[in-house]
Amino acid sequence: MFDLLYDESNIPEISTLVAKSYNGVTEPGEKKIKKVGVLTSGGDAPGMNATIRSVVRTGINSGLEVYGVTRGYHGLWKGEISPIGVRDVSETLQRGGTFLMTARSKTFMTKEGVLQGARMMQVYDLDALIVSGGDGSFQGARALARLGVPVIGIPGTIDNDIACTEYTIGYDTAMNTAMEAIDKLRDTASSHERCSVIEVMGRHAGYIALNVGIATGAEVILIPEVETDFNRDVIRTILDGRNKGKRHYIVIVAEGAGDATEIAQKIEAQTGIESRPTILGHLQRGGSPTLRDRTTASLMGARAIDCLLEGRYNRLIIEKNGVITDVDIEEGLAMQKTISPKDIETAKRLS
Ligand code: F6P
Repeated sequence: MFDLLYDESNIPEISTLVAKSYNGVTEPGEKKIKKVGVLTSGGDAPGMNATIRSVVRTGINSGLEVYGVTRGYHGLWKGEISPIGVRDVSETLQRGGTFLMTARSKTFMTKEGVLQGARMMQVYDLDALIVSGGDGSFQGARALARLGVPVIGIPGTIDNDIACTEYTIGYDTAMNTAMEAIDKLRDTASSHERCSVIEVMGRHAGYIALNVGIATGAEVILIPEVETDFNRDVIRTILDGRNKGKRHYIVIVAEGAGDATEIAQKIEAQTGIESRPTILGHLQRGGSPTLRDRTTASLMGARAIDCLLEGRYNRLIIEKNGVITDVDIEEGLAMQKTISPKDIETAKRLS
């Protein structure tokens, strides 16, 4: 069992929980891990079930006991913690969502919430916690790490917006879901000679929009990472296309780059081309995970268990140069992610 680095009379603010005595990696073998908790946090992503299954099976097959925490950090501080066995994860690999359920816990963004979570782990004798989620979930994990709780993060978000990893579980499934929906929208846009403006998810990032835009042959792709000149990048592109004989148009807008309804209205007003908005929304978060997501989740779950067995704590499991590896949580969260300017340029040349 870990020792809390702070006592209740001296709980620092989360923002100042900068490791006074915590130094990231615990020496191998210093404290043996026996019981591990696993939770999913933030927005769900296809492949989260495959992640849990991998943690449970590789953990138990390596001699660990695995406990499931329901409803993310919310369930942690409330003590919603129960053992999971290898049979409990049967038939979960192919299922979307997360059977442990998930939440965006506001309490866990407070110092009391984090400390309560750490205390609850002590109540259940949990030696370490594996967290599947996005950036916000990893910040929660880092806060626990700074209190002395060994943690491992596995990237699970459709947005692919975590800087230290090339890939986040759920991204491929979400893009395929969006691509199939946009192919259908193209059919009807083509029949009616319309412009279809489609808003995809991604929060502040444009990865889904850019790649789905390339895959569906979109005329215009709007992402938050690139400043848009509406007249030049949208109106002019559509009119140039019309003048070359195009009769329907697909505009993909990342949710962080604008509002599909407003954009469709502006396009219709300025070009006279009938335009319709579609917001794909949460359907992008559902569905059976693709092969890419199932395999990445399975490999990352196993890597998380390996880190714990080898005494390498407070790590984020990542994909780097196509290989599953891990990085220190402090280092990983300090990185900045950028979209490749070359890909943006290529997308423009394809339109
Ligand atoms: O982070 C995943 C994501 O689906 C984002 O793309 C989106 O902005 C957000 O979650 C939506 O969150 P919620 O489901 O809480 O509305």
